[in-house]
Amino acid sequence: MYFGVDYHPEHWVYPYDGTPEAPESRWERDVELMVQAGVNVVRMGEFAWGCYEPEEGKYDFGWMRRVMDLFTKAEIKVVLGTPTAAPPLWLAKKHPEILPIDARGLKRHEGTRRAYCMNSNVYWDYCQRIVRELAGALGNHPQLIAWQIDNGLGGHDTEASFNEETRRDWHAWLKAKYDTIDRLNELMGTRFWSQGVTDWDQVPMPMAAPTVHNPALLIDWMRFCSDTIVAFARMQRDLLRELTPNLPVTQNLRALTRLFDHFDMAEVMDFVSVDSNATIKTKSAELACEIDMMRSLKKTNIRMPDGDCGFWVIEQKAGNVNWQEVNSLLRPQVVRLFTYQLVSRGACGVLYFLWRQPRIGSEKFYGGVLTHTGRGDNRVYQEIKEIGQELKQLGRVLKGTRIAAESCILTSHDNDWNLKFVNQPNKYFNQREHVQLFYNALHDRNIPVDFARPTEDLSKYKLVIAPSLQLLAGGEADLLKLYVQNGGTLVATFNTGLVDEHHIAPDTGFPHDLTELFGLEVLEFDPLPPGEENHLTIKGAFAATHLHPAKLWCDAIEPKGCQVLASYAKDFYAGRPAMTMNSFGQGRAIYIGTMSHQFFYYDLIVWLRQMCNLFPLLKVPDTVEVSMREKENTRIYFLLNHQNSPVRISFFNGPGLNDARAHGPIFNPERSAARGVQVARRLRSNPKSSKIRDHAMKRFPPSTP
Ligand code: GAL
Repeated sequence: MYFGVDYHPEHWVYPYDGTPEAPESRWERDVELMVQAGVNVVRMGEFAWGCYEPEEGKYDFGWMRRVMDLFTKAEIKVVLGTPTAAPPLWLAKKHPEILPIDARGLKRHEGTRRAYCMNSNVYWDYCQRIVRELAGALGNHPQLIAWQIDNGLGGHDTEASFNEETRRDWHAWLKAKYDTIDRLNELMGTRFWSQGVTDWDQVPMPMAAPTVHNPALLIDWMRFCSDTIVAFARMQRDLLRELTPNLPVTQNLRALTRLFDHFDMAEVMDFVSVDSNATIKTKSAELACEIDMMRSLKKTNIRMPDGDCGFWVIEQKAGNVNWQEVNSLLRPQVVRLFTYQLVSRGACGVLYFLWRQPRIGSEKFYGGVLTHTGRGDNRVYQEIKEIGQELKQLGRVLKGTRIAAESCILTSHDNDWNLKFVNQPNKYFNQREHVQLFYNALHDRNIPVDFARPTEDLSKYKLVIAPSLQLLAGGEADLLKLYVQNGGTLVATFNTGLVDEHHIAPDTGFPHDLTELFGLEVLEFDPLPPGEENHLTIKGAFAATHLHPAKLWCDAIEPKGCQVLASYAKDFYAGRPAMTMNSFGQGRAIYIGTMSHQFFYYDLIVWLRQMCNLFPLLKVPDTVEVSMREKENTRIYFLLNHQNSPVRISFFNGPGLNDARAHGPIFNPERSAARGVQVARRLRSNPKSSKIRDHAMKRFPPSTP
């Protein structure tokens, strides 16, 4: 298990630390403190271009080699960032054409990081040069175990630029996609508002304009920008693979907020790394959801430094952030709890951002492992040190374990981008919140869940949930049919299949291409303002524990062979179906024509769980989060108490329980301290028989209650 920090040695030379005689002397103290904290890896250099190449063509990698040599003695491994996120000022001065142009046609100036256009040939050349020099100088260092490409690609709204070189690449991209102008006009529907073109050069970039751009053009623009970012990362990866073929390549991604296709990006990387901002304000299930999304980006072809099979958290925030209005301290044990949450969901490397609060620059009040003083007597350092000791013991056991999920939520970037366009049927509908309702219901019942794009092989999942795929490609619809045809259970909802991949609405009824699968047609849909509600009248097998509202959106459904599970209670569509189920091939297709409150989704999952034979990992109190990592004969359970007070947990055998409980208690009865964590291992001596030895492997109560 890799455990470490993000270290910026370039900040810690004289006059910020060290002495005039020994300007780099602080580095040794840092290494000592890292060793004491159990650190075995550091990430460095992601913004160091200006220190590597202070003047064009004059390189100095010696300082970084000296740092890495110190780490050799301490047996600490190194990940180096390629420094292309922060081009030096001399480059922007010499080639102002690399600076990005915004949607209003204004230049975004030099003076910060990320000031570059990813379509600039000049910038590509300079990036290749610095990456080549860096790999040549340090690529053979024995401590180096991986590269991180750039840093925070797409951050600070830099996914798109509107430079002339962007326009050139945009037109080439369109040409490759549509082949002929006629085809582009036809599929983009350019006859609306006189937008027809006779030459590629006439196709606009969607710059600031009097009103909204053609959504068909916008969705292509998003795809083009995404392809541009992925191509920029691939260019660096290819170069690094050529120069240092044995070193895997990663990148620090953020939970799907940036506007590029993270699945495409994950394909380019050897393994996925993420940035995580765990703060006490965030609900744990929302964090868990984001972790599962990121974990799911790369399910195969993972190549990690130690041959493991999960993902890294390359920036776990060690303390407060600096971008909220009030940046409160993280309470004791919160970092530990969220570190375990990441580990419990598949992380096999955790690095804290950042090692020491910098004395210089715009992030000086970001919480660090060390404070500005660098003494190492601060609270956070002590907490991280404890975590380091614990994870050292756990690492061996966790190696090679992975999360195995039998349920899955579908997500597609094309659809997410499309849902952000203006002129939606209901601007109050929020897809992220919609996904979270389903996710909570699975998470709170301790049922593991993957995320996948609709084009992935879904056959391994017993249950697939497809919330509001408003933009659904014909090919995606076919794959959903295939999944159900072969025995799968699919749940889809309102706001599905309103447009195809060309952003054309169907003339065969909603949801496009899927009316046969669901055995219904949505004749019209009624978006409701917040606060206005209809209600569901439940029929048939679906059992309701509450009166369930219908909110934000009501599909008026015409059944065409499906079974009706619930109908609307009022309005002119009272009595019309709101929720249905249809047999299709060997499987079942369930359709929910509205959005409800959380209790509805709890009821839904209870019902689906039985229907699909899905088992909760463990049954524990609601405030305890459970996750499990497994390999052939071992299962590791994590129990996280998110409550600010202790909780008692008892495990008993009982009928109808899954094998996690059916074979005896894990620990019985047990108390989990406030914000405490318990990890338990179960060994299956012979996986074929049901004889199982249970071990309470290790309890880690926090030292500070
Ligand atoms: C990350 C970035 C770091 C730092 C951090 C602050 O995305 O990689 O350099 O800026 O955000 O939240």
